[in-house]
Amino acid sequence: EKGGYATFMEKEIHEQPHAVADTLLGRTDDAGRLVLDEVRIPEERLRQVERITIVACGTAAYAGMVAKYAIEHWTRIPVEVALAHEFRYCDPIVDENTLVVSISQSGETMDTLMAVKHAAELGAMTLSICNTHGSTIPRESDAVLYTHAGPEIAVASTKAFLAQITACYVLGLYLAQLRGETYADDARAVMAELHEMPAKIEDLLGRMGRVQEMAEFMSDSRAVLFLGRHVGYPVALEGALKLKELAYIHAEGFAAGELKHGPIALIEPGQPVFVVVPSPETPHELHKKVVSNIQEIRARGARTLVIAHDGDEDVEPFASEVIRIPHCSPMLAPLLAVVPLQVFALHLASAKGLDVDQPRNLAKSVTVE
Ligand code: F6R
Repeated sequence: EKGGYATFMEKEIHEQPHAVADTLLGRTDDAGRLVLDEVRIPEERLRQVERITIVACGTAAYAGMVAKYAIEHWTRIPVEVALAHEFRYCDPIVDENTLVVSISQSGETMDTLMAVKHAAELGAMTLSICNTHGSTIPRESDAVLYTHAGPEIAVASTKAFLAQITACYVLGLYLAQLRGETYADDARAVMAELHEMPAKIEDLLGRMGRVQEMAEFMSDSRAVLFLGRHVGYPVALEGALKLKELAYIHAEGFAAGELKHGPIALIEPGQPVFVVVPSPETPHELHKKVVSNIQEIRARGARTLVIAHDGDEDVEPFASEVIRIPHCSPMLAPLLAVVPLQVFALHLASAKGLDVDQPRNLAKSVTVE
């Protein structure tokens, strides 16, 4: 049942190309326009959306943080990401022109369900991005956009995360199409590039030998830091979460720009730091800024574990290790950049002899508030 893999988590990491491909399946018509049959909210209502609030927990919330960058960029609709368990208690500003998008693999997370119910009471339109057919959250929502990652057995979420990001991109492009066109990027071009991602993820999975070795010789690490910027920031948070929950190692993700506002004090000789580097064509010279962050922490002795696009030579002088990902446009990079971080956490936990599929104190779906 583990398909030749030692753990469900490893199997599910390797299913990620399919999770993305299947989530894209059937979303466009012959003319290349997006069609979302499962979205039961009338188109004229969706055209009225003035703000979007994403509610989710844990990994799903990080998918939501990635989605915020893409949906705002493409639609110019303001997007807020709320942790579902905080949403209800912060007197949320939600009305009938708010689209509340919940993201949940299981569809049973009580915190997320209660947030959706609260949003519905306040008159919002509710849309569920969910991986489990017939589960409670989609049933309680006005509309559903299923991710097609297949059942996720390992407690730590991997393939569902990639499928959630994919579904959010599809939703963003669909909303942009409904409202005329995208403000940035061409929807068809983005969809075409999304369709190339499964092959790139497959390629990347074939390059993970060195990451596995690194994880094995870093198994006695006491703390690992993760830096990212723009869509790489939630990727850093997700990398840290994977390491905490699987390997029980103190791990923190930071926005790279925040470094000089405090976290750089943590850097001492030998401190491992993963850095998710944006592609060189990311606007606003973000690439250059992240490269100088690497330089700064390297000068203070950090062990810099750099995730960079193929062909990005600028990182070489300051990297203790370079982990290469296939090149793609800036917005889609999370679908690749997170993979080495998942693989790292998996192999570090395995090297410590831990139960990767069932980490201590955790349950696959959290059905209590
Ligand atoms: C992390 C993880 C959790 C879940 C969170 C939400 O690996 O699995 O953080 O992402 O509990 O679960 P769902 O998506 O089922 O609502």
